[in-house]
Amino acid sequence: MEKDRNKQETMDSHAILQRMDFLNLKVGLERCLEDEDFYLDVLEAFVEENLLNELKGLYLENNWAKYRVKVHTLKSSAAYIGAEDLSAKAKRMELAARDGDDDYINRMHYPLMVKYEDILRQIDRILQLRGTSHYRNQIEKFKLLLVDDNELFRQESAYVLSMNYDVEEAGSGEEMYQKLDSGFIPDLILLDVYMPGADGHRVIKDLRDNERYGDIPVAFMTADNTPESMAKGFREGASEYITKPINREIVEARINRVLHLSRLQKSLQHEVRLRTMVDKERNQRVATVFEQIVNALANTITAKDAYTRGHSDRVAKYAVMIAENLQYDQEKLTYVRYAGMLHDIGMIGIPTSLVNKPEKLTEEEYATVKKHTNIGSDILKGITAVPDIAGGAKWHHERYDGTGYPDRLKAMDIPEIARILAVADAYDSMTSDRAFRSRMTQQQVMNELEKGIGKQFDPVFANIMLEIIKNDVDFELREK
Ligand SMILES: [Fe+2]
Repeated sequence: MEKDRNKQETMDSHAILQRMDFLNLKVGLERCLEDEDFYLDVLEAFVEENLLNELKGLYLENNWAKYRVKVHTLKSSAAYIGAEDLSAKAKRMELAARDGDDDYINRMHYPLMVKYEDILRQIDRILQLRGTSHYRNQIEKFKLLLVDDNELFRQESAYVLSMNYDVEEAGSGEEMYQKLDSGFIPDLILLDVYMPGADGHRVIKDLRDNERYGDIPVAFMTADNTPESMAKGFREGASEYITKPINREIVEARINRVLHLSRLQKSLQHEVRLRTMVDKERNQRVATVFEQIVNALANTITAKDAYTRGHSDRVAKYAVMIAENLQYDQEKLTYVRYAGMLHDIGMIGIPTSLVNKPEKLTEEEYATVKKHTNIGSDILKGITAVPDIAGGAKWHHERYDGTGYPDRLKAMDIPEIARILAVADAYDSMTSDRAFRSRMTQQQVMNELEKGIGKQFDPVFANIMLEIIKNDVDFELREK
């Protein structure tokens, strides 16, 4: 029986080709100089060349240069065998890969793969009728599990279906689970509705609740094809309804419909999972690199003046504390931290003698030091991904009342990041020891901040800072 079942009828080349009605046979034959046998050889080569895995891999790597080459190969070979629609789709994809059109590639990659795999599978199935020894079957058959208590029906159906599918049988719901537990995970379960003991309705309900096997699609098989019975089956989660006695061509068409849909769904889920993973990793990498660059830049300040570096780190910390009160999300908080770390980066362009000068600066010297805002913003303006960084360096010495520098911006004309930094910066200056003065007491700091509300500081951010100070009972927030 087993042996007979696997035996394939052999057909002549012409008859085999006639079954490939999804190809433009006229074009294909013409390309093969009307030699039908050779055309079949070319079709075999097309199946054996199977580019699916390579294309999927290159797609996931976003390697559009190599992806383009493979899609080009697919376009040409598909055109050669007369798969015109596939070739046209591959051509469109090739153009998208050439232009780096991510949007089109992401939208159309899977539909193209499904179309390609579909054609490979159809050609492969029909080529088996050739029965030639040199042909190696490349494509795995779909697996079906046939669950029916009627042994004769089961065996006959299994025999018919085994031409194109890998079929296993089970005589009851219980036997179905034995097969599943033994490791045979089918692409589709064909389930008889009327069985003694647990009937099909019962079995599908159990199966849907099953954590391991709940996703396997099910097609009901029954002689009862009344609309009520069919509606009930679909409600219970059946994907298809097959009427007994079975007709091979109709059954295959229905089975294939379910298989294609579920395969598409699975590929998409798989793809989404992979994409999410890849994107997460990529974003993580970018964030790490960015963090390292910001740190490297901040370290250039340390080389100039150790105090300024300590100052910048603390300003970053206080600015983040203020921003946390504004319900900033994690990404924005990170930007605030970077802006704080780099707000005085322009100091590297100011003579060291002035940066570290213990005495009060002369007017001329002060004018020089003031230039650190524009120097800083020039250094950072290339970082367009985080515009706050350059803006923070440029305008953190602006005052709310419009008397600050370098541009005498007023109130809301000053970017938010700069208004936050102004408060954090002033707070740190007041709570740090300088060569010419010691730090203020916490009460003095609060008085100064209150005095500056609406003048030097944005009232909202100054008040948030005052709240933070009130909660800092032990005066921990200061230079150590
Ligand atoms: Fe500054």
